[in-house]
Order: sequence, then structure tokens, then C-alpha cells
Amino acid sequence: MTVLHIDSSILGDNAVSRELSAEVARREAARTGGEIVRRDLGAKPLPHLSGDDFLGRGAAPGERTPEQSRDAAVLDEFLAADVVVIGAPMYNFSIPSNLKAWIDRVAVAGKTFAYTEAGPVGLATGKKAVVISTRGGLYSEGPAAGMDHQESYLKTVLGFLGVTDVEFVRAERLSFGPEVRAQSVADARAEIDREARLAA
Ligand SMILES: Cc1cc2nc3c(=O)[nH]c(=O)nc-3n(C[C@H](O)[C@H](O)[C@H](O)COP(=O)(O)O)c2cc1C
Repeated sequence: MTVLHIDSSILGDNAVSRELSAEVARREAARTGGEIVRRDLGAKPLPHLSGDDFLGRGAAPGERTPEQSRDAAVLDEFLAADVVVIGAPMYNFSIPSNLKAWIDRVAVAGKTFAYTEAGPVGLATGKKAVVISTRGGLYSEGPAAGMDHQESYLKTVLGFLGVTDVEFVRAERLSFGPEVRAQSVADARAEIDREARLAA
């Protein structure tokens, strides 16, 4: 069993999503007896997908450029994971661009999805995903609810790849002052613990 632990916050150790994603990765490793594989996209971002990266995906293992080998490793890492834990802060109503660059590496026709006569089919089935969603504002309810292109996008793209078992752990209103922020983080932690107890 493998738990792929991904972070995408650019804020290093100050990131709420990084702290919470580590707790979830430990929880999932304990639940599954799996080992944690780490990919910190905030600390070590993948570049934007280039035309060469995209067109070179079919290269045979012995003929790959370093970039093609890197992208093949990112894809294999995702395919091998039983659980994928994703720390995903909201940036400008969507996800960090480094997380989008990762998605551009793992959404590969013939590997993680296929188009059939009946429409698209996800091929990366049998995985669980846990998304740690952090935001400065409030989007789960209220006037800004329609501006969330972060959780809705991740749910869509993971589902497109065949990952339909997606748990969201949310800490929002993080910019509403220290007390609200602390409460929001405490609530997210309690949610992580609650799921751990349910799984035990
Ligand atoms: C580049 C950038 C863009 C952001 N855009 C939004 C936004 O559109 N909406 C929002 O509510 N918060 C926004 N924030 C605030 C973050 O979502 C918030 O600070 C969150 O705590 C960051 O998560 P982290 O602590 O896990 O890094 C933005 C922060 C950064 C750095």
C-alpha cells in the first residue's frame, strides 16, 4: 500500500494545508499499513507542461530525455498510489499553478483516462483521495460559494481520472483574524481525528 502525500502551498512550514496534509497522510498510512511517498510541489515545483513534454510522452524508457523520465516517474507514482493526499490551498479562486502542472502530468490519455464511444472513462480506479482545502475566505456557503473553482475543479478532474472516492478536509476563513483562523484549523483537525476513529 502506498500513500502519496502531495503539497502545493508556496508558504512552506507556515502553510495550514501542509500541516493538515501531514496529519492526514499519517492517518491514512496507519489505516492502510502503507508507506508514505512525498511530493512537495511547493518546495520543488514541476514546470508548466511544454509541447515537448506532451509530445514526448510515448518515448520508450531507454530513449527518454531527463524531462520525459521525470514526467514518467510522476505518472507512475500516481498510478502506484492507493491513497492520494493533496494539500490544496485556494489561489485566485482555483488551485496553485504547481498543482495544475502536476495534474497536467498525471492526466494522460490511455493511462489514466480514455475516450470511448460511450464518452470518457477514468482508468485510475480503486484509489481514495483526500483533499485538504485551505482558503482565506468563506466559500462553503454565502455569497462567494459560486466562486469556488478549487474544490469543484479537483472533484471534477479526479473523477475524470476515475478517482471518485474523494474526502475533503476544509479549513476556510483563514484570513478572518487569528481567532477565526485558530477555530477553523481546530475544526479541521477534529474532522481528521473523527475520520480516523471511524476507520479504526
Ligand atoms: C497567491 C495567493 C492567492 C490566493 N487567493 C485566494 C483566493 O482567491 N481566495 C481566498 O479565499 N484565499 C486566497 N488566498 C489565501 C489562501 O487561500 C490562504 O492564505 C490559505 O491559508 C493558504 O493556504 P496555506 O496556509 O495552506 O498555504 C491566496 C493566497 C495566495 C498566496
